Amino acid sequence: MNSKLFSPVQIGGVTLPNRIVVSPMCQYSADDGCMNDWHFVHLGHLAYSGAGLLMVEATHVTREGRITHGCTGLYNEHNEAAMARVIGNVRRLSRNPVGIQIGHAGRKASSQVPWEGREYLTAAQSPWQTVAPSAIAFGEGWHVPRELSVREIADLVAAFVRSAESAKRIGFDVLELHSAHGYLLHQFLSPLSNQRKDAYGDDRMKFPLEAARAVREIWPKDRALGARISGSDWAEGGLGPEDAIAYARALERIGFDYVCVSSGSIVSRAKINVAPGYQVPFAEKVKQAVKLKVRAVGMIADPAHAESIVAEGKADMVAMARAFLDNPRWVWHAAERHGVTLDYPPQYARSRPDVWPGAKLARP
Ligand SMILES: Cc1cc2nc3c(=O)[nH]c(=O)nc-3n(C[C@H](O)[C@H](O)[C@H](O)COP(=O)(O)O)c2cc1C
Repeated sequence: MNSKLFSPVQIGGVTLPNRIVVSPMCQYSADDGCMNDWHFVHLGHLAYSGAGLLMVEATHVTREGRITHGCTGLYNEHNEAAMARVIGNVRRLSRNPVGIQIGHAGRKASSQVPWEGREYLTAAQSPWQTVAPSAIAFGEGWHVPRELSVREIADLVAAFVRSAESAKRIGFDVLELHSAHGYLLHQFLSPLSNQRKDAYGDDRMKFPLEAARAVREIWPKDRALGARISGSDWAEGGLGPEDAIAYARALERIGFDYVCVSSGSIVSRAKINVAPGYQVPFAEKVKQAVKLKVRAVGMIADPAHAESIVAEGKADMVAMARAFLDNPRWVWHAAERHGVTLDYPPQYARSRPDVWPGAKLARP
């Protein structure tokens, strides 16, 4: 086999059988933080996608930290039991590693689900008080968050640890801190959202690294620990690739195993030039600066493009989100193109192109 994309990669104590990752994707469908039958089916069918790692959606460390009323959480025992049922199902369907992303939405909490507008909740939609490093709204009309006290910051570090403990009991192989997309950890990192006058403003990495260290202490070394970080704020005065490198280096010193380099979403006014692989240059810059494993993401959908990103050493893995919603068989079809034989679930083996001549006709 001469595909790098389909070669295994080691992150921390976990070996991914290939370098394709199902990117974390919020489903906005939970009941007070609890996964339900939607997640059972959604993650169940992605379990046998063939991807080397299946990442579970951004899951929030407190109830107030949820982006929407429908976001998942790991803040009580009901959340944990509901998720354990869904992940138990995933485990029965696939041996491939499964990970979870944990985070807190900060000033972007109390939002509408995408199909209801993706804006801030109105007075009639049961909004709640949001919190952030500084009392600065995400954009025009958005809720003005309350500035977190030092005591509350310490409580949030503890909340990250509690959720990580919960994820450990559920049995995830990989834990990822969400420090991108304008959510709380990113809000502390960016000068656009953190204008504090205390130690958490003087050193904008202080809170994210406190959370990272605390989670590192309890997350087993024989599993994998990483973070999603931001390569650019795409806004004047915001973070850029050099800041991403500094943060990745600090995470590396703490003992993290990988970073996934995304970008944007810290301010509503940002203008992003979205094009195939538009965030890959950020991942490449980070990869050149650290020994951590690096994952690229964003508008990667073509198997040849995905192969080139890892073959050319720009990243160690690629994550894809919308490509998997569009085509959960992406990995099977990409494997064919690269002449790689994957284990299909035996129930579906009769659809393999080498045993079913109709396979080519079935592709629109
Ligand atoms: C439905 C949906 C939900 C998402 N939820 C999350 C999430 O929970 N955490 C996260 O870091 N990114 C989330 N994202 C962003 C994706 O993980 C990914 O970074 C982004 O869609 C770009 O990749 P793509 O071009 O392959 O879709 C979401 C994207 C989609 C489409």
